Amino acid sequence: MNILLIGSGGREHALAWKLKQSSLCDSLFIAPGNAGTALCGTNLPVGITDFEALAKACKEHRIDMVLVGPEEPLVKGVTDFLTGVPGLENLKVIGPSKNASQLEGSKAFAKEFMTRHGIPTAAYAEFNADNYLEGVNYIKSHKLPIVLKADGLAAGKGVLICQHPIEAMSEFDLMLHRAKFGEAGKKVVIEEFLHGIELSVFVLTDGEDYVLLPEAKDYKRVGVGDTGLNTGGMGAVSPLPFADEAFIQKVRSRVIEPTIAGLKKDQLDYKGFIFFGLMNDNGDPKVIEYNCRMGDPETEVVIPRVKNDLVELLLATSGKKLKTVKLEIDERAAATVVAVSGGYPGDYQKGKVISGLEENLLDDTMVFLAGAKHEGDQVVTNGGRVFTVTSFGTNIDEAVEQSNYVMEQLFFEDMYFRSDIGYEFRSETN
Ligand code: AMP
Ligand code: GLY
Repeated sequence: MNILLIGSGGREHALAWKLKQSSLCDSLFIAPGNAGTALCGTNLPVGITDFEALAKACKEHRIDMVLVGPEEPLVKGVTDFLTGVPGLENLKVIGPSKNASQLEGSKAFAKEFMTRHGIPTAAYAEFNADNYLEGVNYIKSHKLPIVLKADGLAAGKGVLICQHPIEAMSEFDLMLHRAKFGEAGKKVVIEEFLHGIELSVFVLTDGEDYVLLPEAKDYKRVGVGDTGLNTGGMGAVSPLPFADEAFIQKVRSRVIEPTIAGLKKDQLDYKGFIFFGLMNDNGDPKVIEYNCRMGDPETEVVIPRVKNDLVELLLATSGKKLKTVKLEIDERAAATVVAVSGGYPGDYQKGKVISGLEENLLDDTMVFLAGAKHEGDQVVTNGGRVFTVTSFGTNIDEAVEQSNYVMEQLFFEDMYFRSDIGYEFRSETN
């Protein structure tokens, strides 16, 4: 079959790498892709939210299945759009409907959903310009820290953890009266701060049943020891030693299963990945957020650990046959370390030549390209997160060491990476 993958990050290179391994995949296209996905299939110069052009590409390349990587097209309704185009009625799209994607697209929607279906999450209230003063009073009487969230998609910047009521009130004012996050911040969710260890849990669901993928933890801060600004993710590890059988069982029964039952009850059409951002609060899982897609860089450790044929899994998802699927997971640990352009997540330069990619890498190590493109016969940087090195090991320590070693063999001007990924789970830290 012919497959179209939408997206252009390291996540999409990892997905393309896995899709390409399937004997069921005849031709793979990626819109728009990057220098890494170009090694797995054909990149198409089509933007992720150019729905008309995506539909045209589906027809032109006789696409049977579309896999949507990032959230933006999902929240804007790519799934409904494509299957509504005359001639594409039978297209299999892996990614939730527009309505179901609001689990990620609107934090207020997600909180209402969780409340309605008894899914554990932080206590909250939602405000807009009409009940602004109530919001101010809510902040004044709330314990600290207090969490403010812009309702809509805000490129990962819409969550503010405030240590002081004055700071919270000022941010609240900026969002509601000065459009700090534009449309996304016209509604604000204010919630209690959750303590504990964060983790990401992923499932693939057909709307009835699900398979549980390996859990992961990502490292969002730019600096060693979780310091500095938030980024899209500087690395990830899987599995997590604290996510034992008993904890995962609680995640299944208190979070995953009520979520899937809730989607069904609310008639929200969902075929695709659900990413549960969780807090382990003394052994009890609480949902911080839902995402309607896989994580990046979590995909780069989760997907390599899945032994099943990904196309078979996606076909079972689209055909509502996940109940019959048994997932096989690589028992080894995986770690991924992200190389970023100097200055990221602030300003950084593009167009730096990446060297070392052509060398033979270690066994059990993969380089997934993200913000990288071909320029003549060279690969040059084209974004903040440039590539990620994933390695396997008998434990997290070994996997991270191997990725760090390979990282040292790769180079571009002003390259930076965190050498302490997975530090809490390692015997020695760097
Ligand atoms: P997001 O940008 O939506 O991925 O969220 C950013 C981060 O904010 C999360 O990964 C958590 O680390 C943190 N966060 C969000 N909500 C809460 C909360 N209620 N309590 C503690 N931390 C939170
Ligand atoms: N790594 C977090 C995310 O993909 O949202």
